[in-house]
Order: sequence, then structure tokens, then C-alpha cells
Amino acid sequence: MHRKIKLFSCKILTGSVSLKQPERNFIFARLWHTLAEIAKEFFLITYYYMHILGINCSHRKTSNSELFLDYLLKSLSSNFSVEKVNLLDLKIDCRGCESCFSDFRNHDDDLVGVHEKMLKANVIIMSSPTYFGMPSNLAKVLMDRTNSIWLEKGLKGKMGAVIVNGASRFGAIEQNAKNIVHFFHDHEVINVPFYTCFNNSIKHPHERFPDPLPKDLTDPLDKLSIEIKTLADIISPNLSR
Ligand SMILES: Cc1cc2nc3c(=O)[nH]c(=O)nc-3n(C[C@H](O)[C@H](O)[C@H](O)COP(=O)(O)O)c2cc1C
Repeated sequence: MHRKIKLFSCKILTGSVSLKQPERNFIFARLWHTLAEIAKEFFLITYYYMHILGINCSHRKTSNSELFLDYLLKSLSSNFSVEKVNLLDLKIDCRGCESCFSDFRNHDDDLVGVHEKMLKANVIIMSSPTYFGMPSNLAKVLMDRTNSIWLEKGLKGKMGAVIVNGASRFGAIEQNAKNIVHFFHDHEVINVPFYTCFNNSIKHPHERFPDPLPKDLTDPLDKLSIEIKTLADIISPNLSR
């Protein structure tokens, strides 16, 4: 039976069997389908190897920023390789010596490693609390020390996303998000269509949202996760690393 099928396929290929139009259409359709399947497999492999770096910029040991970031990274981990950095755990030394202006590696602290990670990632997610309408100072020092990366356009073409939270309902939380989006835009991280704001943490004890997060707080994060996946689908071939 197997030999017969093989012989028949050979005859089709060599043209010694004349096929009617519907049969030809069927074979071409099957062929296209198989090629499409192979292309999809290949695409999934490249998609899988996209790397997401999540940066927790909170100054608190157990923080809302980390809670939100963990939820998002978990949801993305089925499609991407993900990594989280807690800036609070790092040794960061910044005394205005200006040596990072020419090269971010001119320092002997842990922030250099984070900047190296940012250069390698395809997608960078920053999660920060709001301090007087601005990003936390951990977020700020991380951003300020990227001057040489900015000069070399090291982050150009990557994807970025922003999560911010604050105590008040009117605490300029969106302003905070916009500052971080501005940082990304300065670096030509052009694919930053989304930021997610959570306000009113003051409603909860110690200004900490409940863990696990309730549905009204996970919904915007699920949306953000879908947006990242969808955008990655569209732009992954051009996403720089
Ligand atoms: C110095 C300082 C400034 C703050 N300024 C704001 C503010 O402008 N707007 C706001 O809504 N919350 C403000 N907060 C409250 C924090 O943003 C809030 O507690 C947040 O939920 C903490 O997030 P985290 O757990 O991720 O650190 C401020 C807190 C501190 C310590």
C-alpha cells in the first residue's frame, strides 16, 4: 500500500498522471496548508524566544508595583521568556560624578547589569509607584543613567509597557505614567501604546492592594497582556534585541 502511494505521488510529480482540476486544486490546497503550518511553527519558535524584562521600581519590600508586575509576567510567561528585576535589592551608587554620561558601564554598581539586561530584552516593562506625580527615585535613577545608551540609540525599536499606581484617586498617577512613556519615546522605544494606572491604594491597609488581586484589578492587566502579545505578533520580526 505504502509503495503504491509513493508510486502515485511520483507519477503526480513527474506529470505522468493527468489529474482533473478539482483534484489538482485539492492537492495545491493541501500543499499550501502544509507550508502554512511549517511557517507557523517557525514563527512560534521566534516568538517564544522574545525576552521580556520587568522592572519593579518600588521602594517597598512587598509592593503593589511588584504584585501587578508579577501578575502580568506570569500571564506573558506562556508565550515569552520573562525576567524580573527588583531595583530595591540592588546596590546603586549615584553621586553626580557624570561618568555615566559617556558610558553607563563607568560605574561599579548593580545598575550596570540592569542596563545590560535592558539592552538584551525585546520588551521592557516598568512598574512604579507615584511620588508627587512622578516615578519613584529608583525608576528615575535607572532612567537617568541611560544617557550613553540614549546617545547610541541602544533601546531603539524595542517594545515598552508601563504600570503605575498611587494612593489617591487624584494623585497625578497618569502624569507619572506619561513621564515614563516620555522616557521610552526619547529612546525611540516606539511601540509603547499602553500604560495601566491603578489608583486609590489608600483604600487598603498600608496602601497595599489585596493579594491575590481581585478581578477588577486583574482585568486591565489581562488587557495589557493581550495587547503586548498582539503587538508582538505584528512586529516581532522587527523587534530589536
Ligand atoms: C514620597 C511619596 C510621595 C507620594 N506621592 C504620591 C502622589 O503624588 N500621588 C499618589 O497617588 N500617591 C502618592 N504616594 C503614595 C504611593 O504612590 C502609594 O502608596 C503607592 O500605592 C505605593 O506603591 P508601591 O506599593 O508599588 O510602592 C506617595 C508616597 C510617597 C512615599
